[in-house]
This record gives sequence, C-alpha cells and structure tokens, in this order.
Amino acid sequence: MMTTAIAQDKALIAAEDIVRAARKTPARQPVVTSFFDEATFTASHVVHDPETGRAAIIDSVLDYDPASGRTAHDSAQAIVDFVREAGLTVDWLLETHAHADHLTAAPWLQEQLGGSIAIGGAITTVQDTFGKLFNAGEDFARDGTQFDHLFTDGERFSIGNIDAVVLHVPGHTPADLAYVIGDAAFAGDTIFMPDYGTARADFPGGDAGQLYRSIRRLLSLPRDTRLFLCHDYKAPGRDNYVWETTIGAERDDNIHVHDGVSESEFVAMRTARDRTLGMPRLILPSVQVNMRGGHMPEPESNGIRYLKMPVDAV
Ligand SMILES: [Fe+2]
Repeated sequence: MMTTAIAQDKALIAAEDIVRAARKTPARQPVVTSFFDEATFTASHVVHDPETGRAAIIDSVLDYDPASGRTAHDSAQAIVDFVREAGLTVDWLLETHAHADHLTAAPWLQEQLGGSIAIGGAITTVQDTFGKLFNAGEDFARDGTQFDHLFTDGERFSIGNIDAVVLHVPGHTPADLAYVIGDAAFAGDTIFMPDYGTARADFPGGDAGQLYRSIRRLLSLPRDTRLFLCHDYKAPGRDNYVWETTIGAERDDNIHVHDGVSESEFVAMRTARDRTLGMPRLILPSVQVNMRGGHMPEPESNGIRYLKMPVDAV
C-alpha cells in the first residue's frame, strides 16, 4: 500500500513544475521535422538544435509486410537521408513506448547514424508480460538491457543546448513516456489531435484512469507548448493527416479530455470505445520485436529468424 501511495503522490507533481525546474527560461525552440508513415499512421520526428546540429529521432518505423514476413527500410532511409543532408549528429533514438502497431527501426538507424536507444524504465513490466505471452525463454532478458538507456520520470537530458525532460505518462501501456524538449512536447500514445481524442487503454497493462491522469499531467504544461503526436488517423470531416497542435488547443477542444471532463466520464467513454476496437494489424510482430529493443529473435538452426503467432491467446 505504501508503494502505491508514494507512486500516486509522485504522479500528482505537475508536469509544469518538473519542466520549470529542468529548463532555461524562455524555452529554446528545437527544429522538428516529421515523417509520416501512412501504412501504420505513425509520425516519426527528428528534433534538432539549430545552434549545434545535435539531434534526436523519436519513434521511427521499420517497414514490415506481414504477408511475406519481409522488412524494408524505406521509411527509415528517408530519415537517414534528411539527417545526412542537414548535417545533423544524432545523439538519441527515443521511443515513447513499446509500440503495438509498428516495428521500430531504432537499431537499424543506430547502425547508420549512431546515438543511444532509450525508452522508459517500466519497459521491464512490458517485457515480463509479453515475454510470458510469447514464451520467450530465458535468453530473452526482461531487464531492459536491450536498450542503451532507461529513463525515469523527471529525468533531464539535453539535445545540444536545448534542455529536455522526461515525463512518465502510463495508461496506454505501463511504460509510456512523453519527452519535453525546449518548447516542444512529444506525447507518444496518450493524446491525439483535438478532433480525434486519445489513445486506447485496453492493451495488457493499460488503464483508462491512469491514462486520464497522465494526460491531465501532460496538459499542465504551458498552453503555448508545441505538442507533437505519434499517430494521426484523420478525423470525421478532415481529409489530411496532422500531427502537431498545442497544449492550449487540446485543453480547449480535445473531444475526449478537454478541460471539464472528469476522470469517471473519461473512463466510461474510453472503456466503451475500446470494446469496439479490433487489434492493430501488426500487434503480434510489433510487440515481439519492440520488446527486444527492435531486434528480431535469434535465428534458429537453419539461420532463419522467426516471429511467433499465438493462437487464441490475445
Ligand atoms: Fe502505441
């Protein structure tokens, strides 16, 4: 009980307080260049400091065709081309969480561009859950060592001269992070565009009430904070993909969590909506690869790597 109480107290510390303590005032403005993958509706972001050319790549995509089991690097190559043309130095390959809808290209990007691969420390919980589901065996470490760095809530880092801070925002999965880099925040799968709403909370370890509290915490950032999203699915009446908004716009207009929506109202809406959603097309391959930090399982005796397909288990 003690541990839970402390965790809840910690979660109540406003994001704005953490950010104020961590960064210079006024916040510096990183340049954000985004790449959208229509196959998985994922926005990857390259964030860089224009003064130093130091950069981070957030939530990259490894192309994967589930029919053939083939991977490709077209999406990731576009990022490599941009980074090289702009003359940037990549310090970080950041994951907001272990994605269930696309495979990460972080290890391949690291081979091309360098940088440290990082995710939230609670990835160990995700590894434990999915290690069991996929019966991964003892050679699958569940201590996060596949990643170069595991972030904790409130941890500071920098991209060139721009201060950055990590917020732990669980609910969609136990390990979700938001990265606040200068005047820009990267929300991962917590909140989407105001006209689309929020992320689902029904994956293993997900929790709608926790997601609500994480989102309200994120929305305590300054209203003019630029907010970059991990996905967009268009919304009824909108025919283009959009992945950037502001904290203020979300507080005013988000259809699920605008100011005034209570936790119980949100949980009722989110739970009912999640019951109508099918599983993401790539959840089984994505989770097996992403729980390994983006690496495929070891090859079998014939030299071929295999992904498993659990039957009637998910
Ligand atoms: Fe996700």
